[in-house]
Amino acid sequence: MLPPTLAWEGEVPGRVRLLDQTLLPGEIALLEIRTASGMADAIRRLAIRGAPAIGVAGAFGLVLGLQEEDVPDAAALLALGRRTASFLRATRPTAVSLVRGLDRTLARVERESAAGAAPDALRRAALAEARAILEEDREACRRIAEEGSSLLRDGQGVLTHCNTGALATTGIGTALGIVLHAHERGMRLRVFVGETRPLLQGSRLTALELRAAGVEVTLLPDSAAGSLLRSGRIGVVLVGADRIARNGDVANKIGTYPLALLAREHDVPFHVAAPIETIDPRIAAGSAIPVEERGEEEVLSLGGRRVAPEGVKVFNPAFDVTPARLVTGIVTEAGRIPAPDEGRVVEFLHRCGRARE
Ligand code: MRU
Repeated sequence: MLPPTLAWEGEVPGRVRLLDQTLLPGEIALLEIRTASGMADAIRRLAIRGAPAIGVAGAFGLVLGLQEEDVPDAAALLALGRRTASFLRATRPTAVSLVRGLDRTLARVERESAAGAAPDALRRAALAEARAILEEDREACRRIAEEGSSLLRDGQGVLTHCNTGALATTGIGTALGIVLHAHERGMRLRVFVGETRPLLQGSRLTALELRAAGVEVTLLPDSAAGSLLRSGRIGVVLVGADRIARNGDVANKIGTYPLALLAREHDVPFHVAAPIETIDPRIAAGSAIPVEERGEEEVLSLGGRRVAPEGVKVFNPAFDVTPARLVTGIVTEAGRIPAPDEGRVVEFLHRCGRARE
């Protein structure tokens, strides 16, 4: 059993304990985070990662920021909160959960400050909001896992990418949560995991979670996905998402888009599992989703060793965008959106009362 991805310790003042995911699978080490800049650093270097998890981490990071300075009044605390939220928001631009976690926590502080609360009460309110975000993420994962398990068949080969399990959330996970839930209920699945270059979330994290749960795992280099799909051993491709545009285009870990193309070519269903908050109705289409570009050293080196000659340039986007037309369906905690397009996504958000968020 791995320690929780993230936990708050104490009240206000308190601190965050994070499992340092950069050291997995070899070493289980916990980080103690006491400042918002410490949280920003942990998010930036992927000590904590995965869209839902960084949404929760951002909210708690804001609470840390609010307890760092003595302020004379609520207005000064609010100004501190806005500054803190702005640099936390800049750590990773693609996952909308981070923006939502920060905005929601800040909005709570704003509301209570307008109602006359003093700085200490505002800090406690921010902590209560961050805790609520964590609980809601856990519950959303549970419901996605239940909702999605009907997509799987006994004995089936499932291909997944990156890590969408407990390490990427504060619950059981999204796409991987579906697999784990089905496995716990006795379904025999053969799970194929792309290693997910360059940072190897598939091999380091997903394979670890699946093996810990006793699931059969086959690891593949990302470039072997075409051969695997052509072999007919995959019945379904199941991935997560960092942000979904209003028209159903899906931003997820780099390498997801080629999997969707391959799935279409080989007539294999391609499902995306994500909490509703991942859908960003303010973004009309995938081309407007900000895609994080990461440093060249992630590609030039492997395991601390240089693997390319001097003088080469590097293209290292952390995410890609899969067009909605390649997506068989989106699984959320409130049900599925089959064959997503703008009409179906907007109608779904209306039905869930989330169209204005
Ligand atoms: O760069 P990462 O490891 O944060 O990327 C994670 C992914 O792309 C996941 O698929 C996504 O965040 C969904 S996690 C439930």
